[in-house]
Amino acid sequence: MKKEETTVLVLFHSKGGTTYKLATAIARGIEKQEGVRAVLKQVPHITLPDDLESKPFASVPYATPEELAQYDGIAFGSPIHFGSTTADMRLFLEGTLNLWSQHRLDGVPATVFMAAGGGAAREAAILSLWSTLSVHGMVLVPTGMRGAAGIDKSIAQGNTVFGTTALATMPGSERPSESELYLAELQGEALAKIAKALAPLHKTLTEPTPPAKTPEESINYVEQRLLELGLQLPVLPEPVGNYVPYTRSGNLVFINQVALKEGKVLHPGVIGQDLTIEQAKEATRQTMLNVLAVLKSATHGDLSRVKQVVQLTGFLNTPTGYTQHAGLMNVASDLTVAVFGEKGKHARAALGASSIPVNSPVEIQAVFEVE
Ligand SMILES: Cc1cc2nc3c(=O)[nH]c(=O)nc-3n(C[C@H](O)[C@H](O)[C@H](O)COP(=O)(O)O)c2cc1C
Repeated sequence: MKKEETTVLVLFHSKGGTTYKLATAIARGIEKQEGVRAVLKQVPHITLPDDLESKPFASVPYATPEELAQYDGIAFGSPIHFGSTTADMRLFLEGTLNLWSQHRLDGVPATVFMAAGGGAAREAAILSLWSTLSVHGMVLVPTGMRGAAGIDKSIAQGNTVFGTTALATMPGSERPSESELYLAELQGEALAKIAKALAPLHKTLTEPTPPAKTPEESINYVEQRLLELGLQLPVLPEPVGNYVPYTRSGNLVFINQVALKEGKVLHPGVIGQDLTIEQAKEATRQTMLNVLAVLKSATHGDLSRVKQVVQLTGFLNTPTGYTQHAGLMNVASDLTVAVFGEKGKHARAALGASSIPVNSPVEIQAVFEVE
């Protein structure tokens, strides 16, 4: 399904509230970009602050590491503790190990903002988070000199080229200062722009990469076998309703086909009445070839990625009392085993139906396990 809205997470940890204020400014900046929505969440506290209930961020929902994969961009915010992030944010990031091993954050834009005291090691602190996000393959969005001309230079400000910081213990103004909030908004806007542009790309980057094949495996035995059997897969039949030719769930592919050949049903009608057993066998074979044509598309043109033919279910348009379904379905089963060998052996059901869409004499439902 096409996703129309770009969603960017603003994920923060805050104890005193300064990082939270920056986070809200980042979120405001994100939402300035048309079609981009900001979601504000916090990381769980290792130890709950005594006065948490009185904090303005007390009711902000907590994020889970797994949910990070669902966003088109993420802004990470934390207080600086000893030139790095807080232990709470670090612990949360430790929880992203599964996402890392599955490359789920590859290509997702990220930016970092931090609340400091006096600002000791603030650039190093941002870079410490950058290094974690780089390991995830995230696209880092720096602030550069964005907004530098517009800030109040009469007092110290937390601007850096990597990301906004707020100098919470600096005298001179309420912190974050107006300028720091302004910089944070610009930072959010920059992230949103890039997240919106990259959203379609990172979805393809995060698709699991098929495992590499050995040289022996890379010879496509299935294609060779099709050639030896003199089989040519038909042109992919178009769906004739509001459905798709196949669906994939995990490693399983589900396909349904009828006996269409070049846009027409091959030998339509009731088996044994409108068509002979030989014609019914031809129609069953055609249906199975259609299934294989769709399967080839589901395996991106490489049928050697089929690990197992799991199950075939044949619906045969037969009169009441008909009992020879198995003999007809053998045509589909034999074809499958001839093409895939051992991997082609499957569980099977065959049953009679009083009618089948488009007056096809047969419909086959198939389940395959693929790489
Ligand atoms: C244990 C600890 C270590 C800190 N280390 C630094 C530091 O290295 N550099 C700095 O600028 N501020 C440091 N601070 C100050 C915090 O970064 C600052 O109070 C920050 O504004 C807190 O953000 P919050 O209000 O969102 O909790 C430290 C504070 C604590 C408690």
